[in-house]
Amino acid sequence: MRGRRIEFGCGRSGHDGPGGHERKGTRDHHPVPHDPEKLRDLAVAVAAEAGELAAKGQEGITVLDTKSSPTDVVTEMDRATEDLVRDRLLEARPQDAVLGEEGGGVEGTSGVRWVVDPIDGTVNYLYGSPDWGVAVAAEIDGVVVAAAVHLPVHGQMFDAVLGGGSRLDGRELRAPEAVPLDRALVATGFGYLPERRLQQARVLTEVIPHIRDIRRVGSAAVDITGLATGRYNAYYERGLHLWDWAAPGLVASEAGLRVGGAHGGRPATTW
Ligand code: IPD
Repeated sequence: MRGRRIEFGCGRSGHDGPGGHERKGTRDHHPVPHDPEKLRDLAVAVAAEAGELAAKGQEGITVLDTKSSPTDVVTEMDRATEDLVRDRLLEARPQDAVLGEEGGGVEGTSGVRWVVDPIDGTVNYLYGSPDWGVAVAAEIDGVVVAAAVHLPVHGQMFDAVLGGGSRLDGRELRAPEAVPLDRALVATGFGYLPERRLQQARVLTEVIPHIRDIRRVGSAAVDITGLATGRYNAYYERGLHLWDWAAPGLVASEAGLRVGGAHGGRPATTW
């Protein structure tokens, strides 16, 4: 990469444990006051209901609004799905905080914060593609401890608990063994700002000569959970938002993949 920083990456590393989730620090310094398995069960139930709502609304969907650029779209269903997720989480756990991609966040007092991407892969959703999902993660004191990623059109529900493994439709997930870089099928993504894309395209020209091939599906939730099932060998993207990687990142790390920033630690969300 000759000095360029790739801020989010995951793939098999041969190391135990997720670089991005600080598993050891959590155990050593934070007695967990909430049961991560119960948080996972709630995430799964809410992601299932939200995925059903969004899937019913996909046909004929149009753009409601734009965010960072004219290509960064929001549909009515992004907002409706986020509203449903937030309402269900707060009905069950009124003291928790919620951070949602569409801005419907609330503060909390419990130490638990939910990180929600109501429809990850919005452009795919808009175009009638099956490659989108609902991602719900629970953080305790800033560490992701539980997650659900529902891919409704694929009919797949991924879940994970920090230190407790990840599953696909209730079956334990173990990511395939690492392959040499020149045999790695690598997925990536692009942001919505033209200057960011230009930079990402430049990075791609330096990556692609060294790998088997590249894939750009258009949903970090699909891509990063796909690492755990062997669909790709690695994923990288600079500038992913927390809601893009929090839930699928825990699924990947609990399946045995290394998840983290280019220089270790938690993936950076800044550009
Ligand atoms: C986007 C997708 C895409 C990734 C972008 C994300 P959105 O999320 O995950 O694959 O490359 O960086 O912003 O906008 O569809 O929720």
